[in-house]
Amino acid sequence: MISKKLQDAINAQINRELYSEYLYISMQAWFANNNLDGFANWMDAQGKEERFHAMKFFNFLIERGGKVELKAIDKPVVDFKSPLKAFTMALEHEQFITKNINDLMDIAIKEKDHASRGLLQWFVDEQVEEEATADKIVSRLKMIGDNAHALFMIDSELGQRVFTPPTTTE
Ligand code: FEO
Repeated sequence: MISKKLQDAINAQINRELYSEYLYISMQAWFANNNLDGFANWMDAQGKEERFHAMKFFNFLIERGGKVELKAIDKPVVDFKSPLKAFTMALEHEQFITKNINDLMDIAIKEKDHASRGLLQWFVDEQVEEEATADKIVSRLKMIGDNAHALFMIDSELGQRVFTPPTTTE
């Protein structure tokens, strides 16, 4: 059975993952309104991935005899000004999520909760990828500046992204 402290911390993280979904689909809407359909597609896949993260915590908490308590989700930003500003915000958000995952891991280590440590290690590894992906797109957007042709090439590439939930690590 999971401790009350970890249960509360995981519930807070479920809220943050659902907020992440909200933030990314808000970016999806902004990109779609600006006719950047590939970027919008990328954000759609990212939103689905965040929902998957939330449910991974959700299912774990239930399996461990904990209680899921959903909280209100904050209103996300709706006007992102430019693709670079949107992805810079995405990167900063992922850095914030990484910090929260690390804080959760600190609690699990302190409590010697090995099952939670196993779950959280998956998220530690996932965050390395989440930050690297956003960082790469930020770097490329900085590189192209206001070159519209290059922007449309990135848009076309991001349009290929499909989210497929992992099956072996659940
Ligand atoms: Fe759920 Fe993007 O971290």
